[in-house]
Amino acid sequence: MSSKLIAPSMLAADFGNLQRDTELVNKSAADWFHIDVMDGHFVPNISYGMPIIAAIKKHATKPLDVHLMIEKPERYIEEFAKVGADIITVHHESTVHLHRTLRQIKDAGCKAGVVLNITTPVSVLEDILPECYMVLLMSINPGFGGQKFEDVTYQRVRKLRKMIDEQGLDTLIEIDGGVTDKNIKQLVEAGANVFVAGSHIFKSDDPIKTTAHLKAMANQ
Ligand code: DX5
Ligand code: ZN
Repeated sequence: MSSKLIAPSMLAADFGNLQRDTELVNKSAADWFHIDVMDGHFVPNISYGMPIIAAIKKHATKPLDVHLMIEKPERYIEEFAKVGADIITVHHESTVHLHRTLRQIKDAGCKAGVVLNITTPVSVLEDILPECYMVLLMSINPGFGGQKFEDVTYQRVRKLRKMIDEQGLDTLIEIDGGVTDKNIKQLVEAGANVFVAGSHIFKSDDPIKTTAHLKAMANQ
């Protein structure tokens, strides 16, 4: 089994010490930076945009996994690629022509992924899975960090894992929202590969140690 990845969510970082927290992730056992972009329309919160991503990119030594929680993300793909996104994921619920948007992400030189809200059946991706480097399953309602993990996620991961395996693909499954050392093992068992963790890492006493612990648990 290939190794499981940890992606700390920079939404929980200290924006007044962005360089420090970026370097902390560089130093840690984390694999990617998870970057949450919110527009106040698709989700009821506004986070940050291109200048902050560019600032993180300046110091980051690991790939940027950019999660777009914005309406009509196709309007901004090239700009996110330009400021340093390596992976761009868009919500199925946010773009009418998902196939075109995924192609647009790849044409911009990034890896392309789709995000599903909790109520969107994983079966909507059946025909488009071969276009997806990754599928991100939300395990909370998007918009805010620090929410409680929803248990329905386990069965959703199992269904998606089955679809991916049946098609003989190596599409990654990423989980975002409320991931901790209490649920990561079960998520690995269900078939997930990449784990976003915001508050669990940054609000802990020792984020480096917490990241190493999560990574070790996921790869046991
Ligand atoms: C929420 C974001 C998440 C968030 C996760 O909409 O997509 O990435 O930062 O934060 P935690 O790990 O605190 O639930
Ligand atoms: Zn996210």
